[in-house]
Amino acid sequence: MGEDWSYMAKKEKKPTDKLADKTALTKFLQGIFGDAQKKTLRRMWKKAQEVNKLESKYEKMDDEELAEQTEIFKKKIDKALKVARAEQGINRSGKKRPPVDDTKILNELLPDVFAVAREVSKRVLGLRPYDVQLIGGIALHEGNVAEMKTGEGKTLVAMLPAYLNGLTGRGVHVVTVNDYLAQRDAGWNGPIYDFLGMSVGVIINNASFVYDSEYENEDHEDERFRHLKPATRKEAYAADITYGTNNEFGFDYLRDNMTSEVQYLRQRGLNFAIVDEVDSILIDEARTPLIISAPAGDNPDSYYQFAKVAARLTPEDYILDEKRRSVTLTDKGIEKVQEILGVDNLYSTKNTRLVYHLEQAIRAEIIFKRDKDYVVTNSGEVIIVDEHTGRLMQGRRYNEGLHQAIEAKEGVVVKQESMTLATISFQNFFRLYTKLSGMTGTAFTEAEEFQQIYALDVIQIPPNKPIARVDKDDLIYKTKVAKLKAIAEEIKKYHEKGQPVLVGSGSIANNEEIARYLDAQGIHYEILNAKNNEREAAIIAKAGEKGAITLATNMAGRGTDIKLGDGVKELGGLVVIGSERHDSRRVDNQLRGRGGRQGDPGTTQFFVSCEDDLMRIFQGDRVKMLMTRLGVDDDMPIQTKAISKTLEAAQKRIEGFNFDSRKNVVQYDNVINRHRKVVYMMRRKILEGDDIFPEIKRLMRDEVKMLTEFSSRVNKKFDEEFKAVFDFDDDLIHEIGLMRKEKDRDKLALEAVEEAYHKKELEFGAETMRKVEREVYLKVLDTLWMQHLENMQHLREGIHWRSVGQRDPLVEYRSESQKLFDGLQRNLREEVLKILLSITPAEAAADNVTDGEEYESELTKMAEGQTERGVNEISAGDKNMDDEFKKGAKKTAPKRAVVRKGSSKKKSAKKKKSKAKRK
Ligand SMILES: Nc1ncnc2c1ncn2[C@@H]1O[C@H](COP(=O)(O)OP(=O)(O)OP(=O)(O)O)[C@@H](O)[C@H]1O
Ligand SMILES: [Mg+2]
Repeated sequence: MGEDWSYMAKKEKKPTDKLADKTALTKFLQGIFGDAQKKTLRRMWKKAQEVNKLESKYEKMDDEELAEQTEIFKKKIDKALKVARAEQGINRSGKKRPPVDDTKILNELLPDVFAVAREVSKRVLGLRPYDVQLIGGIALHEGNVAEMKTGEGKTLVAMLPAYLNGLTGRGVHVVTVNDYLAQRDAGWNGPIYDFLGMSVGVIINNASFVYDSEYENEDHEDERFRHLKPATRKEAYAADITYGTNNEFGFDYLRDNMTSEVQYLRQRGLNFAIVDEVDSILIDEARTPLIISAPAGDNPDSYYQFAKVAARLTPEDYILDEKRRSVTLTDKGIEKVQEILGVDNLYSTKNTRLVYHLEQAIRAEIIFKRDKDYVVTNSGEVIIVDEHTGRLMQGRRYNEGLHQAIEAKEGVVVKQESMTLATISFQNFFRLYTKLSGMTGTAFTEAEEFQQIYALDVIQIPPNKPIARVDKDDLIYKTKVAKLKAIAEEIKKYHEKGQPVLVGSGSIANNEEIARYLDAQGIHYEILNAKNNEREAAIIAKAGEKGAITLATNMAGRGTDIKLGDGVKELGGLVVIGSERHDSRRVDNQLRGRGGRQGDPGTTQFFVSCEDDLMRIFQGDRVKMLMTRLGVDDDMPIQTKAISKTLEAAQKRIEGFNFDSRKNVVQYDNVINRHRKVVYMMRRKILEGDDIFPEIKRLMRDEVKMLTEFSSRVNKKFDEEFKAVFDFDDDLIHEIGLMRKEKDRDKLALEAVEEAYHKKELEFGAETMRKVEREVYLKVLDTLWMQHLENMQHLREGIHWRSVGQRDPLVEYRSESQKLFDGLQRNLREEVLKILLSITPAEAAADNVTDGEEYESELTKMAEGQTERGVNEISAGDKNMDDEFKKGAKKTAPKRAVVRKGSSKKKSAKKKKSKAKRK
């Protein structure tokens, strides 16, 4: 691992402000260039110097001439690509020319392009990108993760490679963690792109826009939001540069693979993505795949029943592994459950379904805690709390029945299980981009994962100004109560001086506890937790003002700019207090980074108690005993490197577990990913092709070949099997079956099939037949794919019961899923041919296949219903949830309908309401 840059930077003597840009960096780079990191940085730094050299050239240009550079660049790119195509012998002018690698020409143009962008930024935003920002831009362009501390100006950094790569016209996606940031960042850089003649689109939940300087939306106070003009998704994607959230980019990809006509496609290829807050998106969020689903019937009663069983378990009935977050029943527990359920052997195969329900009920009961892992709204909705950010993850549901189990445990309405229409993990979605890059303040601790899963290198880019923040050693208290009280005291102390304090907690409960202490003292504060995340950005932005106290969850308001108020610098800057150590060092670092932005002064301090989860799991008891033995009072903290080290080791271990579990997600998803690729590719071919007859011919050949492999002498079921697919005259089938040579059987059968098909075509007319082929194929493919997803899900759920022996569940899963996929392909062939050979013009007309109107398969119908409902629902946006938590509000059945992560739209659950109330 590399060193900690902030540490190195701290050793720097303060440069004068004016020279800061150059001195800090130059000095830094004058050090030894040993390892690969530094070599890379040095190369990039040199490249940045080329940009610097060009500064005066573009400075001299007037606005018009400067804006014209875009066209000049584009022409150069075109010309270079033409040459490259000719060299590679790709000069036919088909509709789909294979893309030529544009890396070389873009690298050549980079210094000029960056220099122009810098000049424009100076003119329209009044910001001159620093050298380190140029380096960041280069790192992104080259497909790396650029680690740049918070407040270093990453929003502006992304503009540079976005402009450069946008010049090719192939599209650039700038990916943000939420709707707010997507709009803000598009609108922030918008004037630069606009000046340069580059179009900008925005894709968010429920809405899409294009940037238009003429357009004025009066509803927004923030200037950056005012020029976003509503547009279709297709238009937003057609822009040179498109800002959007990870969820929506992913969902649109899935939606596009459910659409029935080319004209409905939203996206055009996945070319280059710049992922902001890349650790949050590619690591934290990567544990839950994107799913679009529709309701499927399942009886919720069993969930209530099993919740009751789980509630009756006592600690000796199970073994809890807190580190891995798993529970297993002891023999005693198994006996107890069997008795309650009245079954002899819980683990016999016929009880698989029981075990599955039971397992989720036990996890819900023992591992998942209300107000920590999830909250329950007054309307009886169970909403997941993101463990890293403390945000409410609305619409997202735990999968595999866990969410239902929690609903049953809480006695609220159990929502119907759903059927998956389409799904993909973030890992596999982002790997679809031709080039991927990312930026964040905190990536280095996860460098290995970025490399292994995404083949991304993490480049640590030094700060523009040395970091002046002081990170104090952890204070360790014996009890949690004493710790929280001490935090409140500390806040008060700083507050009296006027210094702003930002407190980050891992749970809502902690913040509320601290708030109570402050209330008692009559100290005013802002509390920001998952319950009112709408005002998050606005509140966090003010956290640096004099006397401000902000209690927030760990990463609340990530990406929000915290500016120090007047006179705060002199008081020592922002004080950041961590009320506990998080499982992951990265999250702690993120919190720390809230202070000391852009070389500002600041202090950070973490408070730990022996009763904190992390301490409890790893040696907390020993420390506590030691403290007691040493006669340390409850309100006396100790501060020792040894414990901090232990904590860090504990964090590393948990990070390791989490990495493993994400790797596991990928490994399983990789299996289905291969299937998805094949199916989506086929689907796209059909969707875009007018004439799929060659494909139909292939199906005929393959099917006939398979059916005629053995004669009826060998395969006694020959006639039966043949007739099941091709309903021909019995005598003919018999004749084929009796032929001795495989070649002859094959030939005769194929002739018969082709003849039958030709007859069909005469019935319809060739033109209509081509249409029918296309529609039938799509319909069958979609139906089978949906079934396949469901089968795969069941396989996945059941796999660890199957492989109780020594067998590796993943290996088992792979081989079983291959069988399922082979089955899918065979079914596809047979279904398509059977329908095409038997369908009559009347039936086709009734099915809407031939009348030229859009024909919908079940999947596309459902998918559209989904998106529509999604749109209506999501129009509420990041809705303010405050009311949901007011005491005494009425319980009503949930009325939400969402296309979201982890699951989606659930039908209104009126029927089950009575049951929920019963409890
Ligand atoms: N070259 C520059 N010169 C002056 N100010 C700049 C420059 N670049 C960025 N800034 C300012 O720095 C502040 C922080 O920018 P920004 O929010 O993009 O940082 P960030 O690196 O994305 O931080 P975070 O990690 O919190 O998201 C903004 O106020 C921005 O205007
Ligand atoms: Mg940012």
